[in-house]
Amino acid sequence: MKLTFKFLLTLAFVITVVLGQHLKDDEIEEKVNELLNQMTFTEKIGQMTQFSGTNKQYEQMIREGKIGSLLNVIGAEENNRLQKIAVEESHLGIPLVIGLDVIHGYRTIFPIPLAASASWDTVLIRKAAEIAAKEAASAGIHWTFAPMVDIARDARWGRIAEGAGEDPFLGSAIARAQVLGFQGEDLADPLTLLACAKHYVGYGAAEGGRDYNTVDFSERTLREIYLPPFRAAVNAGVGTLMSAFNEIGGVPASANQFTLRTILKGEWGFDGFVISDYNSIGELVAHGIAKDQLEAGIKGLTAGVDMDMEGRCYTTAMEALVAEGALSEELINDAVRRILRIKFKLGLFEHPYVDENLQKGLILHRDHIQAALDLARESVVLLKNEKNTLPLNRKKINTIALIGPLADDKDAPLGTWRCEGKREDVVTVYEGLKNTYGGDVTIIYAKGCDVKGNSRSGFNKALKAARKADIVVMVMGESADMSGEAASRADLNLPGVQAELINVIAETKKPVVLVLLNGRPLTLSNVESKVNAIVESWHLGIRHGNAVADVLVGDYNPSGKLTVTFPRSTGQIPIYYNHKNTGRPGDPNNKFSSKYIDLPSLPLYPFGYGLSYTKFKYTGIKVENNRLTTSDDLFVSVNVKNVGKCEGVEIVQLYIQDKTGSVTRPVKELKGFQRVALEAGEQKTVQFRVPVQKLGFYDLDMKYTVEPGDFSVMIGGNSEDGLTTAFKVVSLEQEEKEH
Ligand code: BGC
Repeated sequence: MKLTFKFLLTLAFVITVVLGQHLKDDEIEEKVNELLNQMTFTEKIGQMTQFSGTNKQYEQMIREGKIGSLLNVIGAEENNRLQKIAVEESHLGIPLVIGLDVIHGYRTIFPIPLAASASWDTVLIRKAAEIAAKEAASAGIHWTFAPMVDIARDARWGRIAEGAGEDPFLGSAIARAQVLGFQGEDLADPLTLLACAKHYVGYGAAEGGRDYNTVDFSERTLREIYLPPFRAAVNAGVGTLMSAFNEIGGVPASANQFTLRTILKGEWGFDGFVISDYNSIGELVAHGIAKDQLEAGIKGLTAGVDMDMEGRCYTTAMEALVAEGALSEELINDAVRRILRIKFKLGLFEHPYVDENLQKGLILHRDHIQAALDLARESVVLLKNEKNTLPLNRKKINTIALIGPLADDKDAPLGTWRCEGKREDVVTVYEGLKNTYGGDVTIIYAKGCDVKGNSRSGFNKALKAARKADIVVMVMGESADMSGEAASRADLNLPGVQAELINVIAETKKPVVLVLLNGRPLTLSNVESKVNAIVESWHLGIRHGNAVADVLVGDYNPSGKLTVTFPRSTGQIPIYYNHKNTGRPGDPNNKFSSKYIDLPSLPLYPFGYGLSYTKFKYTGIKVENNRLTTSDDLFVSVNVKNVGKCEGVEIVQLYIQDKTGSVTRPVKELKGFQRVALEAGEQKTVQFRVPVQKLGFYDLDMKYTVEPGDFSVMIGGNSEDGLTTAFKVVSLEQEEKEH
């Protein structure tokens, strides 16, 4: 097995090297133009058209050059069969580019992206994307509709599960890691995937957290909050972007000349192509900015959407408009050029087919499974641990009551967008605990209730189990279909009667550990005080149960930190750490300040928060130079000491605040983070270097600028606690004058 895998890798490497030398950029441009000159109008539109799945009619269309791309066709053989029609039976033999939503693994399913982001481990996140790419590419996929880099500040939005949380800095670092992971060094490598940063842009800001809903924000918010992860993806070389479903202030994202042409293709010089979201061009009619599909197509094309996913809006009816002079053919040529360019970069013209044997050694390779376990463990966030309830004390515990609808559930860990993930690959928490303990501890399992619904018929059995046990572990939360696309929730409490069951069990006075599986922050105020410990385990993929068991028994010391704020109540939403101060900052002693009269202003758990089985102490924050010019770097350090009894990893976070600006600035903004491993008793000096140029914002003229003035810098273990010091930024002119 090992030999086969090594052999395959070597083979892949050899192929890569050969392919790596294939075409230079100017040769690609030449070939693209040559091809374009031979194409009929129908064939051009064909390249700009993507359909989902296949059937006899689509196959005929591929033959006629009317389809350039497919999504949702699975399997190496099937993909080769369809590719053969394109390459061998169509007029110009242009290969198809075949896409799929490979979001957190292909068959080896990793934690959902929101969970993975809680690891703050860009190296491992990149590796997970690399593995997902290998498995999917070996199955004939060329292109993934990932990463989703939408910033999300509203936990009601189901798609918060698919992204990296609420912060643009962390979101950018993760976007970069994912793009590099999927695409590798060379798109022509047969084991990489073309990536697609989505959903451009603002999709996460849907009003009320309702999927597909209206978005309206200022250009400043667009540029400072929602665009940075896309920019990072483009800088990392992402080949494609997907235009979103939502409108932004009256202009749908899939018809938005400002975001697509002015910013993406203009300011950023993006030379890949843009695909619409599923029928998002067709939906311009429902948005009310186009009277029919043709008009919708013209709007999408003019705005800069190069390929139409399932919208059927890029049609040959456009030819008449070109003939009349009402539509420029150059718009179409530009779109086709962009698509062909990527097809050349993917090496599809030289090697259109996938080796059907490639999958064998790759899918679910044990290294892949190990990486899935590693990332799952790093994604767990310990939210509460009263009196060191955890880790479970092996000496004192003979019987565990394992209760809850998700304790032995093989579906929820796969989460949303599970691709080819299979339930049979999943290790549940029950199985994970049994593996860990062998026969040493008795585990009494009782489901107790369902995730949804209101049957209490299982309560008694659960209660009996709890009474017999030394400790109760309750595994609860959301099923996989409760987050992801079209899964917005208005109520973020534990669904069904789960909270009620917690209350019933809590009355036994037995210590209770709550293990949560969920795709978003939940509101936990009604159960938090009833349990002694809370382990946030999200949807962790195929090794969910092992990762959770490792954390519960202390074989792994949790290090994950929240990348999204946990509100006390949905009424606090939107709630995020990098908010503005307002003119009347919340003050519990002042009625006329910005707050609620029925809830504290602070969240239940802030951004960046997460506990460990050890404790870390921060001392001695120091800036190397507290007077900097706009072209300097800020060097700031802090001592972090592990003052507990076991080794652990601390995610050290750096936040800055620009005290006064020409426009208002957030109370703090993440500008650096490091994962620091410390033995018990060990201390390290953690140093950060932050270019002052990264501390700017968009001024009154919407120009990115770093304004001289006073800044504070905080370093700590979450966004609410840390050590603070100050520094000053002066302009270059001022510095020259004074020195
Ligand atoms: C989703 C996209 C996805 C596409 C293709 C759409 O409904 O919004 O994220 O990539 O479907 O499956």
